[in-house]
Amino acid sequence: MTQNKSEKPLISVKHVRKIYRMGEEKVVALDDVSLDIYKGEIVCFLGTSGSGKSTFLNMVAGLEKPSKGEIIIGGVPIHKLNEERVTLFRQKNIGFIFQAYHLMPMMTALENVSLPLIFQGMDKKKREKISREVMAAVGLKGYEKRKPTQMSGGQQQRVGIARALVGTPKIIFADEPTGNLDTNTTKEVMDLIVRQVKRHGQTLILVTHDRSIAAYADKVVTIQDGNILHVRENRHPAVMLEEQEPAAGQEETDGTDPAGGQKPAKEQERPKGLKLTKEPISADERTPNETIETEGPKTVSDRDEKKDAQHREAGISKGNKEEAQ
Ligand SMILES: Nc1ncnc2c1ncn2[C@@H]1O[C@H](COP(=O)(O)OP(=O)(O)OP(=O)(O)O)[C@@H](O)[C@H]1O
Ligand SMILES: [Mg+2]
Repeated sequence: MTQNKSEKPLISVKHVRKIYRMGEEKVVALDDVSLDIYKGEIVCFLGTSGSGKSTFLNMVAGLEKPSKGEIIIGGVPIHKLNEERVTLFRQKNIGFIFQAYHLMPMMTALENVSLPLIFQGMDKKKREKISREVMAAVGLKGYEKRKPTQMSGGQQQRVGIARALVGTPKIIFADEPTGNLDTNTTKEVMDLIVRQVKRHGQTLILVTHDRSIAAYADKVVTIQDGNILHVRENRHPAVMLEEQEPAAGQEETDGTDPAGGQKPAKEQERPKGLKLTKEPISADERTPNETIETEGPKTVSDRDEKKDAQHREAGISKGNKEEAQ
């Protein structure tokens, strides 16, 4: 999607710097990074190992605090939120596909996938129905009752992907989302993620080493030694909406060449995800709210489950915070 420059960015990263201290040693993981990301964009970060990709993602997703700088999402300065508020913010607005899957070992695959729907106050029957649909969509039909340890790395990764997609969050962060998948499955899974994201008008920010994944992005950001080297707009990303016919003579792109000669997607070809949907909710009709939410869940059903899940989520965020600032 090409953004309307008069639009306000959904995510504004301003002069973010992250320093890790290990005793005497100081590691500048991010030097000075500024970037605007607009609603509905798919943004891909490319860069070699250690360039700062995961650090950037964790920072923008509110999993870690920057040493300096600002991160504003939907008008909310998330770098200023305390642990509790940032956890609620993530639950309401953000889905995360982790580099390490962070699945709950004691829970079945289906329960892992259902977690975000608990925060939405959805009843068990409905959330299991939706979770089964999303699991089937990522090729995990029949694996619902398995525990993560009873699954292969690629299958666990797909559980993580299903969990990130199931609640239709406004923003999805993905750290090497296809790192453990073979080439064919990578394409299938990326097609699936991108279709869902486009259909629902979600924003996807992903980091990868894999240049073929950049072909799916609207914007490709190359990061090197903790700085943005360049940002390139991709005029014809690899996945089209189902109802959109590919333009005649359209060629594959590696996502890094802006001079493709294709016109940007037209207004009427934009995702139809902004329409409000009526019951019944199906995997295809789930639509995120328009506004970024800063409060916790409003419904009180499943209160205990929400609390439990919140504790687990806090565990996830702690697992990512090993820095000694
Ligand atoms: N908790 C930490 N403590 C100290 N240094 C860290 C910590 N986390 C990351 N770093 C360092 O910060 C730099 C950036 O790391 P980061 O994990 O962001 O890289 P990356 O681009 O995601 O790499 P990869 O592609 O290998 O996942 C690296 O030099 C890394 O060693
Ligand atoms: Mg990384």
